[in-house]
Amino acid sequence: MRWSWGHLVLGVLLGVACGVMLALLLEAKRSALKPPGPQLHLKSKSSLYPEIPLVPLAPDALDIPMERLSKQHLTPDMAVVKYPYSYPFLINHPDKCQGETAPFLLMLVMTQPQDSETREAIRTTWGNEAIVPGVTILRLFVLGLFPSHLHRHHQDLLEKEDAENQDLLQVGFLDTYSNLTLKTLMGLEWVVHHCQTAQYVLKVDGDTFLNPRFLVHQVLQPERPPRPTFITGYIYKNRMPMRKPHYKWYMPREVFPGTIYPPYCAGAGYVMSGCLAMKILAVAQKIKAIYLEDVFVGLCLQRLRVKPTPSPLDIFQFFGREYERCDFNQLAIVHPIKPVDLLSIWMDFEKANTTCPQS
Ligand SMILES: *[C@@H]1O[C@H](CO)[C@@H](O)[C@H](O)[C@H]1NC(C)=O
Ligand SMILES: *[C@@H]1O[C@H](CO)[C@@H](O)[C@H](O)[C@H]1NC(C)=O
Repeated sequence: MRWSWGHLVLGVLLGVACGVMLALLLEAKRSALKPPGPQLHLKSKSSLYPEIPLVPLAPDALDIPMERLSKQHLTPDMAVVKYPYSYPFLINHPDKCQGETAPFLLMLVMTQPQDSETREAIRTTWGNEAIVPGVTILRLFVLGLFPSHLHRHHQDLLEKEDAENQDLLQVGFLDTYSNLTLKTLMGLEWVVHHCQTAQYVLKVDGDTFLNPRFLVHQVLQPERPPRPTFITGYIYKNRMPMRKPHYKWYMPREVFPGTIYPPYCAGAGYVMSGCLAMKILAVAQKIKAIYLEDVFVGLCLQRLRVKPTPSPLDIFQFFGREYERCDFNQLAIVHPIKPVDLLSIWMDFEKANTTCPQS
């Protein structure tokens, strides 16, 4: 059964939450029409925000043959993900978001259960919740299940890791590349159920470098009124589905018959308003969920008639980039980065806020 009372209640909750946000926004707009009071001080880079052109199309170097990544070919039925479905939360922190101040930014970090080293590196670097003074940030790692042969012993370790850090969200589905869409959707379900007050939600992969100061102050800007339909990242436009089964991002025609994907933010890291996160989840209940998580979010946006907001050129670096302190200081996300490199980069990067020119 695709629809249930749960979904109905979810829909109603969503409507109320977004209604409140919209009311706030309208109020903010109305006050913006009043005679000019003291001007908000916007930094030069951020005031250019809406006019900056889209990131150019990625090169076809992206069509990495599957052989380099895995021997397994995807079959059409694997391209469809079982959703909606009530996957259980096996490790959860329902009260995480109930602190005194509503979170400005909720980080949903995607790792696999076995990636405990990656998580530890992230906790001590960009995932540190206190990293941006005066801004409430929450961090949660979203993960699924170990393959069954690893399950018992590893699951015990995972629960111990969570007891120490209180930051895991484990959901009851097999944690595979093809199930990545489920991870994001379950992260968004957590937002709807436990954290509707989050102003922004970041979905980010574990193998990244994130610059939270830049993301918060230059991209999101706490002094701005809420933006109910905001989502940004590295935006792909006019990308065509790959029809050859041996390519990594193979998309069977029977699953997505169109010739061009709607615009979408590359999956390694994108950030959206909490309100939009809830709307995406609501339409996700009605569209056939596909394994390409970022494309799927793009399909949800299309259904919502929301276009991703272009970001300043190059602040999302998703084809790797050599580390340089003051260069990284002006970027939001770099992908991919190995956890061991992250640790050494961070030791140096900590000096960036005091030694690099500030934007
Ligand atoms: C996704 O998770 C479900 C539920 O655990 C599992 O049955 C399915 O095999 C997984 N899909 C893939 C492609 O791994
Ligand atoms: C610079 O960043 C470091 C590490 O992120 C932090 O401990 C320090 O307080 C920051 N200094 C200033 C002046 O913001």
